[in-house]
Amino acid sequence: METCLNASHLIKRFPLSKKQAKERNTSSRFLTAVDDVSFQVGRGEIYALLGPNGAGKTTCLRMIAGLISPTSGTIEIDGKTLTKSTDSLRGRIGFLTSELKLDPFFTPNYTYAFLSTLYGIEEEAMKKKRDALFARFGIDKFAETRISELSTGMKQKCSLAMSIAGDPELIVYDEPTNGLDIVASRAVEDFLADEKAAGRAIVISTHIFSLVEKLADRVGFLIDGKMALEGVKAEIASAHGSIEEAFFDVYGGEK
Ligand SMILES: Nc1ncnc2c1ncn2[C@@H]1O[C@H](COP(=O)(O)OP(=O)(O)OP(=O)(O)O)[C@@H](O)[C@H]1O
Ligand SMILES: [Mg+2]
Repeated sequence: METCLNASHLIKRFPLSKKQAKERNTSSRFLTAVDDVSFQVGRGEIYALLGPNGAGKTTCLRMIAGLISPTSGTIEIDGKTLTKSTDSLRGRIGFLTSELKLDPFFTPNYTYAFLSTLYGIEEEAMKKKRDALFARFGIDKFAETRISELSTGMKQKCSLAMSIAGDPELIVYDEPTNGLDIVASRAVEDFLADEKAAGRAIVISTHIFSLVEKLADRVGFLIDGKMALEGVKAEIASAHGSIEEAFFDVYGGEK
């Protein structure tokens, strides 16, 4: 498997204000949200990060997507190191969260065209890709409707379409099915399976074991900022009975 993403010894410390430190009942003025996390994702692979609330999943994914810098550690995409100045690398990453980041005032058509311009995609190529993507997700019927007027599921489908407008090699999705109904969740799952088959490297965080059982090739259990266990899903599942059992074996007494 050709490695696309190589995250190595990632650490992220956030400064804490006096008030935050007090709230967290600590005298430390730093919070280590991600503590020495390493993993790799190959092309055509789905890597699932699992962990309880506050474990550091979102922080990890935001570093990988180049949205925040690690305190230390390195992120390589296709062997090139992601830094603040490697904007061209960031263009090769598609990022998505369950909190909608699209501007609700604009239409899918406008937003897609705007993003494509940022990626430097020619109009003809943009239209061809947009029409295919919008038809695939059923967005075509709402292409001129303001995003604020769309259903939650349709908004998420728009986000999926927008996230691959730039044809990224790596897609990073933070809880992509959070808050979606079963129909919209299935659309997200199908999308992930298709993009995996198309050879993209995919990293997701999720709380949903069935999604992991169905789609992931590799899994990582993040607990308290540390990678408690990670590796090939099938191997972990067979050693512990299932992924869910494996998680609770590792989570242990904290249940
Ligand atoms: N900007 C920030 N400043 C200070 N602390 C932060 C910041 N962002 C996250 N944290 C803290 O870092 C820790 C990890 O947060 P993170 O959001 O990465 O967890 P998570 O695994 O995504 O949790 P969830 O399942 O609830 O989404 C938490 O204790 C959180 O409060
Ligand atoms: Mg999170």
